[in-house]
Amino acid sequence: MLITNQETKINIKYLENLSLTQDEVKEVMEGLTSIPKSLPPKYFYDALGSELFEKICNLPEYYPTRTETAILTNASKEIVEITGICELVELGSGSSTKTRLLLSAYDSLGKPWQYIPIDVSGEILKNSALQLHQQYNNLSILGLVGTYEQALWQLPPSCLPQRMIIFLGSTLGNFTYEQSDDLFNEVRDILTVGDYFLLGIDLQKPADILENAYNDSQGVTAEFNLNMLSHLNRCFDGNFDINLFKHQAIYNQEKTQIEMYLYAQKSHNVRLNKLDLDVSFQENEPILTEISRKFNLTKMQDFLASHKLKTVKYWTDENKYFALILTQLI
Ligand SMILES: C[S@@+](CC[C@H](N)C(=O)[O-])C[C@H]1O[C@@H](n2cnc3c(N)ncnc32)[C@H](O)[C@@H]1O
Repeated sequence: MLITNQETKINIKYLENLSLTQDEVKEVMEGLTSIPKSLPPKYFYDALGSELFEKICNLPEYYPTRTETAILTNASKEIVEITGICELVELGSGSSTKTRLLLSAYDSLGKPWQYIPIDVSGEILKNSALQLHQQYNNLSILGLVGTYEQALWQLPPSCLPQRMIIFLGSTLGNFTYEQSDDLFNEVRDILTVGDYFLLGIDLQKPADILENAYNDSQGVTAEFNLNMLSHLNRCFDGNFDINLFKHQAIYNQEKTQIEMYLYAQKSHNVRLNKLDLDVSFQENEPILTEISRKFNLTKMQDFLASHKLKTVKYWTDENKYFALILTQLI
């Protein structure tokens, strides 16, 4: 589906198939039949999941959003001075709230330019695109609703000589090492030499700060985690009872990652009709719903460099909780 309006310079393109893809079926089947059980984190994000994530961003315990916002507040002007006008492609744009700091800096150059937000959650992408259109005069928007893979694969050629792909919120932390490697290979293949990649990453820090951030006192993260099961029920005609699961996040020191789980509160069975799948749970059996890797800044720069993405400059906060790395394809 394509919602388009030439006059207002907004296009929203829905890349998702209305029927389930083989990959979607495979990843959920494999996750629920493996030991331990796991589910892909993209299922957090239906309309309610995106709303709950916005609430998480404003929780007192959840330091990443306000820390990255503070870094972007300081760095945006300098980023624009370094890159000059360019087309911005954002992976997992969500509400684009933090991105506005960058968008304002680019728009103030007074030249026509393009922003391509990509997100699997259509409602939040559409609403934020409409707001951005009201806010910025020089901007045209092409919203792509779908997964990173679908969108990157279908990305049109850049409409400006320079392009920058941005990936904020340490969403990269949800990727395993191998998945990050694949993503950086894709980024490298899409960019041309001289283009930019801007990455926000959460850095390693004491376990108590991390565990508090993902087990907030108001229970919003628990609601967000449990909502994944309701989303799966809708996608796969399932009968998960969210009252039979409990949220808990732990920091795995060895792997330097937060692991978010849903624990079955008693032994029971769940059926997903569209997958023709029956899943049995033992009491206290976990489903791993998300990893959130915490990074070492130098190692990340080396990893980026091994994909020909050379650091131009990086910014951190005074606690060194979070980092923003601007790289250029060489
Ligand atoms: C952790 S949130 C970050 C949102 C925003 N970038 C920020 O920094 O606050 C991750 C975002 O990526 C989107 N997302 C998650 N998995 C995705 C996937 N496989 N493909 C495309 N978007 C995805 C979600 O809908 C959500 O908006």
